Parts: sequence; C-alpha cells; structure tokens
Amino acid sequence: MTRNPLKAEIHCHIEGAAPPALAAAQASRYGVDTSHILRDGAYVWSDFSEFLVCYDAVAALFKTAEDYALLTETYLNELAAANTIYSEIIVSPDHGDRIGLGADAYLAGISDGIRAAREKTGIEARIIVTGERHFGPDRVISAAEYAARAGNPLVTGFNMAGEERMGRVGDYARAFDIARDAGLGLTIHAGEVCGAFSVSDALDLVRPSRIGHGVRAIEDPAVVERLVELGTVLEVCPGSNIALKVFPDFESHPLKVLRAAGVRVCLNSDDPPFFHTSLEREYEIASGEMRLSDDEIDAMTRTALEAAFVDEETRARLL
Ligand code: ADE
Ligand code: ZN
Repeated sequence: MTRNPLKAEIHCHIEGAAPPALAAAQASRYGVDTSHILRDGAYVWSDFSEFLVCYDAVAALFKTAEDYALLTETYLNELAAANTIYSEIIVSPDHGDRIGLGADAYLAGISDGIRAAREKTGIEARIIVTGERHFGPDRVISAAEYAARAGNPLVTGFNMAGEERMGRVGDYARAFDIARDAGLGLTIHAGEVCGAFSVSDALDLVRPSRIGHGVRAIEDPAVVERLVELGTVLEVCPGSNIALKVFPDFESHPLKVLRAAGVRVCLNSDDPPFFHTSLEREYEIASGEMRLSDDEIDAMTRTALEAAFVDEETRARLL
C-alpha cells in the first residue's frame, strides 16, 4: 500500500483553490462570460502576467459571503480527505472590495467556511491577509491596516503576493511594519519571478519568518547562507514553479538542494487547479520526481507546523 503521509500547508490562495467546475457554476449563476479564462474545464493563461489576470477574473466570480464560505469549506474538506491537518489560506481584502462585497463580508464568509470544515473534519486553518503588489503600495498598506484591525482570531498573518516585478520591496515595507506592530506573523512572496536579490531585499526590509517561494535564492549562495543562518522557512510550491516556468522541470527544481544546504522548507500547493496540482500531488512529486525520503517528507510537514502562524497550544496539539 502506498504511504499517505500526514500533511500541512501554509501557502494556498483562496481564489486560487477554486476548482474550474465551481468557477464555471458561479459564472453561469451570475451570467458572466468566462470564455477568455476557462476552456475545456481548465483555466487559460500562458505566463505569469496572464496567470494574474486569470486569477483576478476567477476571483470576481465569487460575489457573496456564502460563495466564499462554500469555496473555503470545499477546499478544506478536500485537504482533510487527503490526511491534511493544517492549512493557512491567503486572502486578499481587495478582492472582496473589488466585487462590491466588502472586506468584512469577504472575511466572514471565509471564516464560516473554516469553521464548517473544522466541525466536519477536524482540520485546523488560519487566514493570512495579503496585499496584492500589482495593486500598488497604497492598497498593500490598506490591506495591512485592515489585517491589523480585523479583530478576527483566525487572522494570524500578513503577506504580499502579486506581481513581484512591480516596484521594490522597500516601497511596501510600511505595510509590513503595520502588520508586525499588530502582532501578525509575516511572510512575503519573493524569489519566485525575481531572482535572489528579491529574497535578500525581503530579508533586509521585511524581516519575515517565512518567504513565499524564495526558491530563486539558489542563484546566490550568500542568500542561501543567510536563509540558513536566520532559519527562514521557504514555503515551496514545486508544481506552481514548474507550471509558471520558474524552472524547466522537477529535476532542476532546487527544493532538494536548498534542503540539503540547511534551508528550512515545506510543501505547498499555491493555486492548485491553476497549476494542475493539489497538496497531495505536491507530496507525491516530492517523494517521486524529487526522490525525497519518507523521513524528509515528514520533516517538511513538521517544518510547516513549526512555522505556522498559530497559537502555541494549537501548535503543540498538531505537532
Ligand atoms: N497570487 C496567487 N498566486 C501567486 C503566485 N504564485 N505568485 C504571486 N502572486 C500570486
Ligand atoms: Zn502564492
């Protein structure tokens, strides 16, 4: 019998978890033409910029708190069925605002979905509020201010996603200062579309305990060494990296090399149906294509839980 390891992930975007069939059902319910983003039951995009456009268009198909509750519960139930005990969901209040739902109702729907899945399956989940870099520094700061005053016990972290090539990390540093002062855990997308300098900037200017992706740190041994020294956890998403052509194939993906160098790494799905993956598939890739041992796989699950933005009592129960 094949092994079904215990799983945890700390990097999945909520709209990025929408199965194409659910997006199609939402579109027909709201009478939205999706021929430019959905074809033959799959999302349509060809590079990172198009992926972001497609993502934003899919996000616009979820219009009510109930839509978001359904999306969240569906995703978490699926994770739980694959032996996953913990998930951190990246949410963007701007997406709630953009469809006229508002950030409060958006967050309330996602929180309801988390509670429903926990009741049904026992899975624990937390919310990481994100600013979208391509919406500009002011929106990212607003997202941080929103996270800081959300007063929602499920909101435990702050992130920045989106177009990494837009501006420099320093343009967004104030957002992270606001989130840090509010006691939120910090993580940031860096070293995915941009090179090792982006990881270095993030370490200097944001001082996060984790980095989303961070895999292009491999291009500079000094940056890899800094990650090791600081104990920064990389939220690695191999399937996403291959789909977005950050690396040509799993053979050349640096997960194993980074791990061997002493960087703390864990496995994540990012936007699973967009990249034809799932958390379960990421674990299969790690043990299959990447040839990591069972012990190495289990260590990555532990790393995700150690790095999770969660209270110590819950962490102790999960570990
Ligand atoms: N938003 C959703 N997925 C993303 C990714 N892989 N990189 C940056 N922003 C994102
Ligand atoms: Zn991401």
